[in-house]
Amino acid sequence: MDFLRPHVKEGTTTDQLDKLANEYTLDHGHTPACLGYHGYPKTICTSVNEVVCHGIPNDTPLVSGDIINVDITTIVDGWYGDQSETFMIGEVSDAARQLVQTTFDSLFVGIRACKPGGPVTLIGRAIQNMAHETGYSVVREYQGHGIGQAFHQDPGIPHFPTLTSKRDLLHPGTCFTVEPMLNIGGWKTKLDKGDGWTVRTMDKSLSAQFEHTILMTESGPEILTITQDGPQEGDTLA
Ligand code: MF3
Ligand code: CO
Ligand code: CO
Repeated sequence: MDFLRPHVKEGTTTDQLDKLANEYTLDHGHTPACLGYHGYPKTICTSVNEVVCHGIPNDTPLVSGDIINVDITTIVDGWYGDQSETFMIGEVSDAARQLVQTTFDSLFVGIRACKPGGPVTLIGRAIQNMAHETGYSVVREYQGHGIGQAFHQDPGIPHFPTLTSKRDLLHPGTCFTVEPMLNIGGWKTKLDKGDGWTVRTMDKSLSAQFEHTILMTESGPEILTITQDGPQEGDTLA
């Protein structure tokens, strides 16, 4: 992500970002996890504006006012790591900025809410409370996941309270993602029938997402995917 960061700007196409990510990954002897995953055609996911997740890189240049989530999953020595950030391109609207900031804050509220041996639902409860305070909706049809030597494992990590997440416990040693998607409008999404991947908000409202891979330890959650140059917990986004 730190390698891509300077390239995520006005005029760059998402295909260019994908090519950079692919080359960087292979040059380091790592494996792009998304490429070929259930037939997914690219190395990264690039989700612009009303795209909620799983946007496929293409030849459209980023323009000022866009918000774009870049989601990278890499396999290193057999282990998966999954992280994403939403970037603001040039001058974005106050509404977009507030959505991106709240989504960023909700990621850390979710992470800090979980406890060794505690229920998964603490995460979703904290995220949903923060989203609803600001009037945003929480995407319900996509969730975080256990992760390790496979991409998507149990337990599912919903970003709102559910019956299953009240029962599932985060024992020390559990590795999982937290990746809230917040929308300005409603929570419902629509899958693009043409490409079979791109997920958009049903009402075309803006959507933002941030993701980290977390290890639950005896003393609490440890974030495994902290970046050197990206925004840190508690920051106001630039
Ligand atoms: N990285 C996404 C996640 O957070 C999954 C992308 S799967 C793909 O779980 F096939 F769309 F790349
Ligand atoms: Co994930
Ligand atoms: Co991801």
